[in-house]
Amino acid sequence: MSTQESGFRPLSGYQEYSLDEMKERSRLFYENMKRRRSVRHFSDRSVPVEVIENCLLTAATAPSGANMQPWHFVAVSDKAMKKQIRDASEKVEREFYRKQAEQAWGKALEHLGTNAQKPFLETAPYLIAIFAQPYGISPEGEKIPHYYVTQSVGLATGMLISAVHNAGLVSLTYTPGDTRFLNDMLSRPPHEQPFMILVVGYPAEDTEVPIIVKKKLQETANFI
Ligand SMILES: Cc1cc2nc3c(=O)[nH]c(=O)nc-3n(C[C@H](O)[C@H](O)[C@H](O)COP(=O)(O)O)c2cc1C
Repeated sequence: MSTQESGFRPLSGYQEYSLDEMKERSRLFYENMKRRRSVRHFSDRSVPVEVIENCLLTAATAPSGANMQPWHFVAVSDKAMKKQIRDASEKVEREFYRKQAEQAWGKALEHLGTNAQKPFLETAPYLIAIFAQPYGISPEGEKIPHYYVTQSVGLATGMLISAVHNAGLVSLTYTPGDTRFLNDMLSRPPHEQPFMILVVGYPAEDTEVPIIVKKKLQETANFI
């Protein structure tokens, strides 16, 4: 991978808007993003692979520490593989709910109505397994240091979630506690760390989502 070509070129992609347009665009983007919700009931309707490819291309435009792009995405639509991921995840989940249900974390999840059953891992047309690469490996087999890996993969994931929403699909950030089984299952090298599974597709008919409240601007930001 050549991420370090040298030299400079004009900032050709930048677009400035009038102040009115800028205000309108920022408001409309917020209005659009505000409609995004994590969905836990998926339809089995298929999604064109081109849409998934475009969303992954969008994710890969994310900024990353020293432009190392320390991520890898595995888009799984194969039914047998989805079942394997579901079975392995539910095994981990059963243990989690057995141990944590009475603990603080378990309590914090109560309002979401989740349990160890994860049928959406088979129903949804795509599971995108996201891996973080703490370091890269050169063609000569040498370790290439990566920087700010968690921040970079988090940003790419956020952009992926936004791209999926923008395409008119829904997603769920799914993080069963121990996902090391994904490396073997999806043939990823052992040094890559499973970051999360993004479940992608159409919502099931009449899907309900938990009633939640987002913090107000004054609670999440201040201006100095
Ligand atoms: C890092 C991260 C991990 C999450 N893991 C899970 C999960 O394993 N299972 C699940 O049902 N939801 C999971 N969620 C979804 C959150 O519960 C959800 O984002 C939150 O309740 C807010 O709801 P919203 O996404 O609809 O705004 C996760 C979200 C994030 C950001």
